[in-house]
Amino acid sequence: MLADVLPYLGCPHCGAALTLAGPAVRCATGHGFDVARQGYVNLVPGKVSGDSADMVAARADFLGKGHYAPITRAVVAAAGEVRGCVADLGAGTGHYLAAVLDAAPDAVGLALEVAKPALRWAARAHPRIGAVGADAWGALPVRGRAISVVLNVFAPRNPAELNRIVAAGGRLVVVTPTEDHLAALVAALDLLTVAPDKAQQVTARLTPHLRPSTQDLVEFGIELSHQDVLSLVGMGPSAWHVGVATLRERVAALPEPVRITASVLVTGYRRA
Ligand SMILES: C[S@@+](CC[C@H](N)C(=O)[O-])C[C@H]1O[C@@H](n2cnc3c(N)ncnc32)[C@H](O)[C@@H]1O
Ligand SMILES: [Zn+2]
Repeated sequence: MLADVLPYLGCPHCGAALTLAGPAVRCATGHGFDVARQGYVNLVPGKVSGDSADMVAARADFLGKGHYAPITRAVVAAAGEVRGCVADLGAGTGHYLAAVLDAAPDAVGLALEVAKPALRWAARAHPRIGAVGADAWGALPVRGRAISVVLNVFAPRNPAELNRIVAAGGRLVVVTPTEDHLAALVAALDLLTVAPDKAQQVTARLTPHLRPSTQDLVEFGIELSHQDVLSLVGMGPSAWHVGVATLRERVAALPEPVRITASVLVTGYRRA
């Protein structure tokens, strides 16, 4: 619910506290933001676009089938015991945030996302989620030191802002793909590759304010139908890169089921 997360937010124009006033959210200075019919509020000052409706639908389909369940479990474990507010930056459909909230009955969840189709999903992913339009590259409409746990799963981040919002003693959980993530599929379908030192690059930008405290290499096999492969490709950055017709042709040529390996690092950081 949006009202539950408002105490953790600040006006994107002036930083003042926000309150719910009928179908809008307002600050004391007089800035107002409409609450969308689907229950989220957009606090992005400019125009930023994220994943398309098709990408978000593909993501919901793929994650809903449980194919990334080991990653979800590792994220919940790394989040630890959560009270107060857990925020998910680049939350997508709210899948990981909802799982963390299921394990944390006293916490509320803040889904920060830029794509409207994703905000619509996230707003109804869990009764304790408030979905808020925010740009991960810019200043976040979140009060300083307000967030107990921040999740950042396959999504963009601004290290200075993460550092600003994580509470004293709080945590950040980042999921990054390794070079081996979906490697067989990347080769067969000519998808975008992951930089070999991706996780180290992320850690270098987050320290010294946030210190790595746990790291879990999560690797597991997945068996996918051709339709699942199309969802998996459709929900990722390669959706912009490979044409639909070419992709369908290449997927049709694969054996079914398609056997691939997921390989990600789940890194927990603590505020020093
Ligand atoms: C690869 S998806 C991951 C979504 C979700 N964390 C998950 O793993 O299911 C990346 C997400 O980041 C969002 N995104 C892209 N640019 C963004 C930005 N500048 N600010 C906030 N979110 C952004 C996209 O809309 C998309 O939902
Ligand atoms: Zn304001």
